[in-house]
Amino acid sequence: MRMNVFVIAALAFVSLVSVIDGSEHQPQLSEFVNDALFSSVSSKQPSQPQPLMVPITVINGAAAKGAVCLDGTSPAYHFHPGSGSGANSWLIHLEGGGWCNTIRNCVFRKTTRRGSFKFMEKTLPFTGILSNKPEENPDFFNWNRVKIRYCDGASFAGDSQNEANQLQFRGQKIWLAAIEELMSKGMQKANQALLSGCSAGGLASIIHCDEFGSMFPKSTKVKCLSDAGFFLDAVDVSGGHTLRNMFGGVVTLQEVQKNLPKSCLNQLDPTSCFFPQNLIQHVQTPLFLLNAAYDAWQVQESLAPHSADPSGSWNDCKANHARCNSSQIQFFQDFRNQMLNDVKDFSRSSPTGLFINSCFAHCQSERQDTWFADDSPLINDMPVAIAVGDWFFDRKTIKAIDCAYPCDTTCHNLVFNVARSTVVDSHESDDTSTTTTMIYSSQSSRLTFPALYLLSALFPTSMFLLHLRVEVLSRFFSHST
Ligand SMILES: *[C@@H]1O[C@H](CO)[C@@H](O)[C@H](O)[C@H]1NC(C)=O
Repeated sequence: MRMNVFVIAALAFVSLVSVIDGSEHQPQLSEFVNDALFSSVSSKQPSQPQPLMVPITVINGAAAKGAVCLDGTSPAYHFHPGSGSGANSWLIHLEGGGWCNTIRNCVFRKTTRRGSFKFMEKTLPFTGILSNKPEENPDFFNWNRVKIRYCDGASFAGDSQNEANQLQFRGQKIWLAAIEELMSKGMQKANQALLSGCSAGGLASIIHCDEFGSMFPKSTKVKCLSDAGFFLDAVDVSGGHTLRNMFGGVVTLQEVQKNLPKSCLNQLDPTSCFFPQNLIQHVQTPLFLLNAAYDAWQVQESLAPHSADPSGSWNDCKANHARCNSSQIQFFQDFRNQMLNDVKDFSRSSPTGLFINSCFAHCQSERQDTWFADDSPLINDMPVAIAVGDWFFDRKTIKAIDCAYPCDTTCHNLVFNVARSTVVDSHESDDTSTTTTMIYSSQSSRLTFPALYLLSALFPTSMFLLHLRVEVLSRFFSHST
């Protein structure tokens, strides 16, 4: 309960500042907001048993190899050992959490769990694909399961530094140091392995898929799963290229091109080669794309970010798809069509898998309610966990593409309740359109989003807020860990 209050305070201030600072901070901070919201949603499932809590492990000797978080601290992961038939099977899950694309927002990131070991939660719940319970995670529950923490800001793929601002961009080295350590802990004897990841981690699992595959002998079954990692090079609601501009900053600042496939760089510029639509044809290892067709993060931050819609005419629609008018829905349908077009050739190749459901969601493998539950999202009566399991074990060919919105009644859409500044998980079923509030106690004195916009007009000096933000956030992090 106490933590919730701090989450809300942190969210309120992060939102406030991202409004004031404009686009420069927005992607990273908003991802933090989304991220916190999603984890809160998943931790508040009413009838779920207590999730397994897994302690953090520092990567020994990583710093000596130059593998460090943005602030120079050691990277880390959470590991739960496999047992029985899963003792030689390994699931490596890469944490997500946006990117940093400027010196300024990378410096800020050093003061968060996404840029420094100091601020990471020291235990994390393992749910969904990371769960240890067969009834929650039928195919991977007894595998060795690892969640590698994300603290570089470039999808584990950068390699550079900025001495003036004491920034280390060592994503690639972190990735390698983590895999090396896990190999020495038994992964080298794996007979099967799955690299997964969500959001920025889902992009990382595409980027690193073949590298991962090449670390095992041919006899090992190796595949990759990208959850909510299919970020499109899309045009935003003002005709601009918000996400391309942001990715361009990430790639340039962190020198990501060093670690992108040469086969792509021979044809396209480095920023284009950071987009999955241009990467997937170069991936040889079997890859599964799990993505919502109306990915909630992309709607918020790539298609209709504040910078592309300063008047806020998309705010209602962004917060709740049920409040979009017909032209706004059409905009999202065009986005979905672009996504389907981009995966057309990919889906024809036999070892690939697809689950593109027509939902307003983001990250469906780590949340128990979207991965595998009585009412979890379905395509053709198939939940995500079964689709991924059937594909991994070659039980079935899985190329599941949903019919267009609004036909799917099984979605767990993310809905941002603007008026009360709470997040609700709109839970649609055949007979009801009721919206269930799933998170956040209501007694706290939180700021509402309208209040935030108002405040942003009253406090034009972002220096004051920068200071305030850091203070509030560090208080939040110290209480939550
Ligand atoms: C839908 O809403 C947008 C943003 O407020 C507006 O520009 C557009 O004209 C509306 N379209 C229709 C069909 O009402």
